Amino acid sequence: MNVYDGQRIAAMLEKHGFEQTDALSDADIIILNTCAVREKATNKVFSALGRIRRAKKPDALFGIVGCVAREAGATAFQRIPDLNFVLGPQSYHKLPEILKNPDTKLLNIDLTGLEKFDELPQMEKSPAVAYIPIQEGCNHCCTYCIVPYTRGRELSRPFKDILRDTELAANTGAIEICFLGQNVNGYKYTDEATGKTYRLSDLIKETAKLNNIKRIRFTSSYPTEMTDDLIDMFRTEPKLLPFLNMPIQSGSQNVLTRMNRPYTLNLYIDIVDKLKAARPDIQISSDFIVGFPGETDSDFEQTMEIAKKIKYINSYSFKYSPRPHTAAALMKDQIPESIKSERLAKLDSYLNELQRSFNESCIGKTMECLCEGPDKTGKHLVYRTPYMQQCIVNATSKTCEKQLANIRITAANKASLRGEVQD
Ligand code: 5AD
Ligand code: SF4
Repeated sequence: MNVYDGQRIAAMLEKHGFEQTDALSDADIIILNTCAVREKATNKVFSALGRIRRAKKPDALFGIVGCVAREAGATAFQRIPDLNFVLGPQSYHKLPEILKNPDTKLLNIDLTGLEKFDELPQMEKSPAVAYIPIQEGCNHCCTYCIVPYTRGRELSRPFKDILRDTELAANTGAIEICFLGQNVNGYKYTDEATGKTYRLSDLIKETAKLNNIKRIRFTSSYPTEMTDDLIDMFRTEPKLLPFLNMPIQSGSQNVLTRMNRPYTLNLYIDIVDKLKAARPDIQISSDFIVGFPGETDSDFEQTMEIAKKIKYINSYSFKYSPRPHTAAALMKDQIPESIKSERLAKLDSYLNELQRSFNESCIGKTMECLCEGPDKTGKHLVYRTPYMQQCIVNATSKTCEKQLANIRITAANKASLRGEVQD
């Protein structure tokens, strides 16, 4: 979601005559787009703002947007008095107001709903992967999570608006559509005129009809909202990639209950089985939190066991960090940092092993991959496999940026694959 927000902010400022620069000291406006989900990233925001303040041109405007902006609100101006703007995740379309009145302080952290989508200018050229948000906010109230506070309750965008965005993306360069939402598979929109209710499966069906679009995916999914119509898409729609991010967070039933994630492990496993029946080559990725309040050694071992059972690829694990406005922050039995670190190292190392073994299993296979562009050296092209692995290919006349190509995988390690383009 932050990648999408960043792209839209850049496009909006380009319309006002700005262009992007990598040099802080050249910039006329500097925007720090922030995430408040975990404490570590949040803590870095104010030290980064301090650095920006010292390095920027004296008259350059600077500010924060996104979830940390919403969380900090007016206190951000107290901490950094010369900050020019503080805009929450649903009001960054108000940014041009500061261009009109650069001497004011612009603060807007309202949860305005879907207004920003109507007010943002359309992008003239789409990247090869077009991120299309379909809903904002979340109605699940996981006890550790700040998202329901920073992004608000779930709101689904009108079906027609989303299709207009996917068509525009398809006509201006997109090859892959990635539907986005904090609870993407909770998408539900009822057209008042017809009374018809649309779900994510309907969006996938319609998008698959666009000739230029060759790959479709969506993230991030809540396990119990993997309804049968959506699972069925993996059986019937070949453009839907065989890869799904469906965070389990913990393998312990007790911890899941305290996290207020009210599904049983058996139900989660059943959903994975159904997905595999629909698409035998599907791979699943997950997010994990270790060291949730009260997590025992045995709870943690159960997380290791579920990782082993599902054989996740491409997963992320985090140390639990207490967040403001969340119930878990007030729970007793917070876990000492040293134990969290130990558990994280153990889980990470196992997830890396799973990734390496999946990567190695791809050697010798040919996969249709999407080119993301050259690497830093310019000698190679970076492709994405259908499983979101990075695959490095020597740049030759046969390779072509921003295109799909059949790549034969020739080598693999934990982090990436090597491959060559097939004729
Ligand atoms: N502490 C650690 N990790 C968290 N996440 C969300 N909230 C917290 C928290 N308080 C993780 C979850 C989620 C991912 C986006 O961030 O794993 O899926
Ligand atoms: Fe946060 Fe995801 Fe839980 Fe929603 S489902 S509250 S976004 S962790």
